[in-house]
Amino acid sequence: RLPLPSEIYLPQRANSKGVEFGDRTALAALIDETRAPAPPPDARPSVESRAAARPVLSPIDGAVVGHVVEADEAAAHAAVATAVRAFPGWSRTPFEARARMIERAADLIEERRGPLIALLQSEGGKTLDDALAEVREAADLCRYYAAQARILCPDMPLPGPTGEANVLRRHGRGVFICISPWNFPLAIFIGQVAAALVAGNCVIAKPAEQTPLVAAMAIDLLRQSGVPKDALQFTPGDGAIGAALVADPLTAGVVFTGSVEVAQRINRTLAERDGAIAPLIAETGGINAMIVDSTALIEQVVDDVMTSAFRSAGQRCSALRLLCVQEEIAPACLETLIGAARELRVGDPREIGTHVGPAIDAEAKDKLDAYLLRQRAAGRILYAGVAPSTGTFVAPHIVRLDRVEDLQEEIFGPVLHVATWRSERLPQLLTDIEAVGYGLTIGMHTRIEQRIRALSRKASAGNIYVNRNMIGAVVGSQPFGGFGLSGTGPKAGGPDYLLRFLHETTLTINT
Ligand code: NAD
Ligand code: ALA
Repeated sequence: RLPLPSEIYLPQRANSKGVEFGDRTALAALIDETRAPAPPPDARPSVESRAAARPVLSPIDGAVVGHVVEADEAAAHAAVATAVRAFPGWSRTPFEARARMIERAADLIEERRGPLIALLQSEGGKTLDDALAEVREAADLCRYYAAQARILCPDMPLPGPTGEANVLRRHGRGVFICISPWNFPLAIFIGQVAAALVAGNCVIAKPAEQTPLVAAMAIDLLRQSGVPKDALQFTPGDGAIGAALVADPLTAGVVFTGSVEVAQRINRTLAERDGAIAPLIAETGGINAMIVDSTALIEQVVDDVMTSAFRSAGQRCSALRLLCVQEEIAPACLETLIGAARELRVGDPREIGTHVGPAIDAEAKDKLDAYLLRQRAAGRILYAGVAPSTGTFVAPHIVRLDRVEDLQEEIFGPVLHVATWRSERLPQLLTDIEAVGYGLTIGMHTRIEQRIRALSRKASAGNIYVNRNMIGAVVGSQPFGGFGLSGTGPKAGGPDYLLRFLHETTLTINT
């Protein structure tokens, strides 16, 4: 029997120094840490590239945060070739040594949290509490996967007849490509890389083009932890570099987090390329709903909706997009919701008291603005907040829907859609919500226990949250990931994740 996560690992719910935001002295100390002078960050690929250095601009104010030299296609393929050569040595490194390196990386993440938070804010546009939570999640993921490697990687004796010894061995598959998004540029980036490495794979790490500097710092910490340079290749670049890496037949698997369109493209490339059949672990988006019935506590609902829809400026795959409220309480619920939305402060996320930071870049802002313009033209805007007119800020919006089916795409920003339902519609409601085919997170607020049981059995979502908010899955307690258009599984931060990075060999000896 595999031990339960709680038996091997207790997630660190408190942040690394136990800072609560109510504790003003600790908060001031944390802010000082993030402001300590640091050399200007830069990011370079592991293998020489002919690309010129380009500035990385902050989504907050367009200031130059640092510089990146991106990998060109030749550098990407050279990185794969180097990692392939390094694989025999790395995969023979005992799993205990690999696990210790990854745990050491977790220690270093905690030690270097000040500069990491500063970079998550300036490069990623994160508020202080989002940045701190991400640092904690990054360290948690490293410790959790190290613990899992100790469970999964020892040889496992298996039964057989007298005179026959059977053993199951798990080992790395080869070179894994890790492709990550900008919205968790530390936690998802290092989570993918740590899982692949600790399982005995060599890694090509390709961060999102918007956030190469946080990723470069994470690579640096992994190297300081003892991970050999050749076993971990860094290839900052855009989608074209990701595509070139995926097409390289020398790679043994891809772990990808990002949009469903890119996941499907990667899937097609892997299916059509020559060489061994390579697995894809994909985690993508969702049209996440919360169902609220008339027994729910409106103040609690509104609190949880605000967090789920607007924290991180709605730029979480888990974020609430579609609030479905039972008709009887809809007017009161909406009034309280709009009142709470008026209190949201949009602006520079480095200022304490800011709730909503910027969209990641001008392209993301333009897409959101165009969507909101269409909703305004259709007379659907119930509430429009206020945002600074400079930079890439998008004000929080609440949009009315006539039918839940009207929301067909993931709107990746601070936009909450609201629809109402009558009790006779409840049996059909989940089916309508899930019609597009996503299945990532779903929330419900009700005090009817039978309804909780029925809805949670019927829901096709990877993470179901009842009477609480629906973001911020905790490593080891709430393994994260969905199905359908939302991803392939296995769940990140869960007990089965590492298995997909491992090959299994059965050894049978006639003694
Ligand atoms: P994206 O798909 O545009 O980019 C993700 C990564 O893929 C980037 O590194 C990008 O450079 C790379 N890429 C782009 N085209 C590629 C190609 N053809 N081949 C290989 N790689 C390519 O996504 P994004 O805008 O960075 O992130 C937002 C999306 O990520 C949202 O849909 C969100 O829901 C999803 N997301 C999912 C999870 C999850 O755990 N399920 C977590 C975070 C974000
Ligand atoms: N794992 C992240 C969350 O749960 C995306 O919000």
